[in-house]
Amino acid sequence: MANQKQHCRGLGLVGLIAMAFASTLPAAQPAPRSNGLALTPPVGWSSWNNFGDDINEQLVIESIDAMIANGMRDAGYVFVNLDDGWQRHKGARKDHPLEYDPKKFPRGISYLADYAHQRGMKLGIYSGPGQTTCAGYTGSEGHEAEDARMFASWGVDHLKYDSCCSHREAPKEELQKIFRTMSNALMSQQRGIVLHACHCGWGDIWEWAGALGVNHWRIGQDISDDFNYPGNREQYYFDVLDQLDRGVGLEKYSGPGHWNDYDMLIVGLDGKSKQLVGTGASNIEYRTHFSLWAMVSSPMLVGADVRKLDKYSLETLTNKEVIALNQDPAGNVAHKVRDDGDLEVFARELADGSHAVLLLNRGAATATMTFSPRADLQVPMDRYSIRDLWQHRDLGTYDIPFTAEVQSHEARVFRIRQLSTSANGRSVSDAAEQGSVQ
Ligand code: GLA
Repeated sequence: MANQKQHCRGLGLVGLIAMAFASTLPAAQPAPRSNGLALTPPVGWSSWNNFGDDINEQLVIESIDAMIANGMRDAGYVFVNLDDGWQRHKGARKDHPLEYDPKKFPRGISYLADYAHQRGMKLGIYSGPGQTTCAGYTGSEGHEAEDARMFASWGVDHLKYDSCCSHREAPKEELQKIFRTMSNALMSQQRGIVLHACHCGWGDIWEWAGALGVNHWRIGQDISDDFNYPGNREQYYFDVLDQLDRGVGLEKYSGPGHWNDYDMLIVGLDGKSKQLVGTGASNIEYRTHFSLWAMVSSPMLVGADVRKLDKYSLETLTNKEVIALNQDPAGNVAHKVRDDGDLEVFARELADGSHAVLLLNRGAATATMTFSPRADLQVPMDRYSIRDLWQHRDLGTYDIPFTAEVQSHEARVFRIRQLSTSANGRSVSDAAEQGSVQ
């Protein structure tokens, strides 16, 4: 499988020139076009990160059953997305029809959609605007309306439409045309289908995809199973911190119905994926990755084998208090509010007026980090309560900046809530406890 990525890597000279030219154009941000879907980021499972194109009906059924049994569905993981490899034929669409592989999926895709729906879940599928997809299967070029009808008739709820291999050097106008065509085709169906435009973060896709009715778009190339791999792994893959850094400055493009997508989750892969490059990350690093994706409102599609998650990974993935940040109805996106080298602070306001705060230590040693609502959030919060979302514990009431120990590569996540201030608007210091959290 690794070889199939070869043709997808790098932009080539034409692409680089096109990108350099494009970046000199004024940024346009037309209003998003809504299909009424994905008002919070999609959360679920996708087959690619662990299995590549080695997928079949039994795997999908076992994964659905596992997600019900291990509590993932009830924690919010409702999407079950087939990535590349469900198709029957490899090769150009002009030479082959788009059909499911009857050996892999003997009862067809609608059987799986029904299976998911009967259990309160949703089914996703994958195609692309080219003659072939990234892994070389038949694409949708020239058959968009027909394919959209077919997906809707099967009961599909989500389409990942992947142009990063077939159109990697295409000009923006052409990219917009291919996504507009599929978006229109999906919107003509009776059934609502979430549209993911996968273009590896090229062509400034965040600037225009929302206006076409796209629900989420990748902001970078494929994630690798690494927290912090020095350099751009194999000139193509981005680790967790690369993806995070890539999103800084793009927050304004993301919101209910149209999200920046930081790529699928690597929690639980442990360097053993059949598909992804990477040596894996530590438990703390995977947890940090998960917390960050929740804070920045990325779709959260688990890529691991959900039938075999260990206790720690499952505990990470089913932290409902962290998932609630990702699924908060206000749909705000965390901004980096402080950057002190290896120590960074991200924060966002939630629908109920409270704030989520994440303290990230990218450094090699444990650090003491301080957070001040007044200075960091620019909110005149005199007195506030803090809850630790990983310890599931209320930490008390504060009227001064709080400090916390943050281990190397750890992210501590807190929800802070303003409490009443005194009548003269000054802080109520006698109600405060120590300013240091454990
Ligand atoms: C591209 C995408 C991946 C995956 C593969 C499938 O590389 O970025 O997420 O969908 O194609 O071939």
